[in-house]
Amino acid sequence: MLDPEQQLDKMRRDWDERARQNARYYVNTAKEDWTDEEFFRSGEQTVAEEILTDMINICQGKDPQQMRVLEIGCGAGRVTRALAGLFGEVCGVDVSGEMIRQARAALAGRPNARVFQNNGMDLGVLGGQVFDFAFSSIVFQHIPSREVIESYVREVHRLLRPGGLFKFQVQGDFTLQTSPEDTWLGVPFSDQDAVEMARRCGFEPRYRHGVGEQYFWLWFFKLE
Ligand SMILES: C[S@@+](CC[C@H](N)C(=O)[O-])C[C@H]1O[C@@H](n2cnc3c(N)ncnc32)[C@H](O)[C@@H]1O
Repeated sequence: MLDPEQQLDKMRRDWDERARQNARYYVNTAKEDWTDEEFFRSGEQTVAEEILTDMINICQGKDPQQMRVLEIGCGAGRVTRALAGLFGEVCGVDVSGEMIRQARAALAGRPNARVFQNNGMDLGVLGGQVFDFAFSSIVFQHIPSREVIESYVREVHRLLRPGGLFKFQVQGDFTLQTSPEDTWLGVPFSDQDAVEMARRCGFEPRYRHGVGEQYFWLWFFKLE
């Protein structure tokens, strides 16, 4: 059994190794040999599906160009790059230094996007910056610890403006065999787990979609 420190260390080592082997495949397993164009187009697709369809909840009347956006688990910059084309400023964090190195290359020429390696469980690396919207997709589904995921939710609460949205996806499938040592299959959440976590962390869990599925999406609004 790993202690929390060892678990974070394992997440960082495993994701660095995946990033060195084939970052783009592990970021999006739909293909093993992504071209730049295809890879970044798939990030645009994520933004089209999860962001552009939901601008009322995300922007709440603000001009996207005036908004600061946080992305947790930015990987090789696939979605970060598309977010930077839409919002005024984008900031990403990732536990893997190798992913961050590749994300910086992907974001060259986009001065409104910055990415940082973090410790795998909090946003201390960002200090006290305030964000208008926070997003995380296909990241928490890989995290084998409820404590780590809840730590991120508390940290987003610390940095999000009151009323702002944290839209993120967790693993909802309880039929999978997960273990604290497995950094690929993350710990599952039931609807009740999600609601209770929101309440403990100061959010209203206004919408949930995909209960019981791999793509269990949560809309947490920071209570004013
Ligand atoms: C499947 S990739 C997705 C990357 C990006 N969200 C995208 O959609 O292109 C998962 C990413 O989550 C990162 N990750 C895994 N565990 C993490 C943790 N505890 N904290 C921060 N990032 C983590 C990995 O390093 C990897 O870059």
